Amino acid sequence: MQHFTAYLPDESATLLLGAALARAVVPGLVIYLHGDLGAGKTALTRALIQAAGHQGTVKSPTYTLSEPYRVQLDGQPANIIHYDLYRMSSPEEFLDAGFREDFDGKNICIVEWPEKGEPVLPPPDVRVSLEVHGVGRAVELQALSPQGLLCLDRLSFAPPP
Ligand SMILES: Nc1ncnc2c1ncn2[C@@H]1O[C@H](COP(=O)(O)OP(=O)(O)OP(=O)(O)O)[C@@H](O)[C@H]1O
Ligand SMILES: [Mg+2]
Repeated sequence: MQHFTAYLPDESATLLLGAALARAVVPGLVIYLHGDLGAGKTALTRALIQAAGHQGTVKSPTYTLSEPYRVQLDGQPANIIHYDLYRMSSPEEFLDAGFREDFDGKNICIVEWPEKGEPVLPPPDVRVSLEVHGVGRAVELQALSPQGLLCLDRLSFAPPP
């Protein structure tokens, strides 16, 4: 499956999609999250990370720009690194922080505001777009590589009616 769209009528639907993604992601995956302020990028990432077994809080890495989590995926230990590049002032900051080295084919990297990381940010395997629609959110997932296709093929999510 190259392309997937759904309507998420409320936050619980976003949480369900995050949990479904936690079962679908594969090591090394790079996910870009697009959407306006408040679209639900952090809510979706939090749900994914907590469904993958992280028991503590997941805050938006607004000032640190990145936050790593040690989780379990398919019974194996894995790292998920959550980025929020909104406050990054220049692409050099991304390089100076050593973020590029995080994209090593093993860590799962989830990036809010990837637009701010161009042109130094490695390319995505999956692009997620969230948009406010009525009281809920429209979500679109797009696979952009063989790994991304694998992830969307593994995705099992039925949105609530
Ligand atoms: N499907 C949904 N329907 C309605 N509200 C939702 C849905 N999913 C999440 N929300 C709400 O939308 C808000 C999303 O906030 P969140 O911090 O996740 O946005 P964000 O995209 O990360 O914004 P930012 O760009 O500021 O980081 C939260 O208040 C959450 O409760
Ligand atoms: Mg956010």
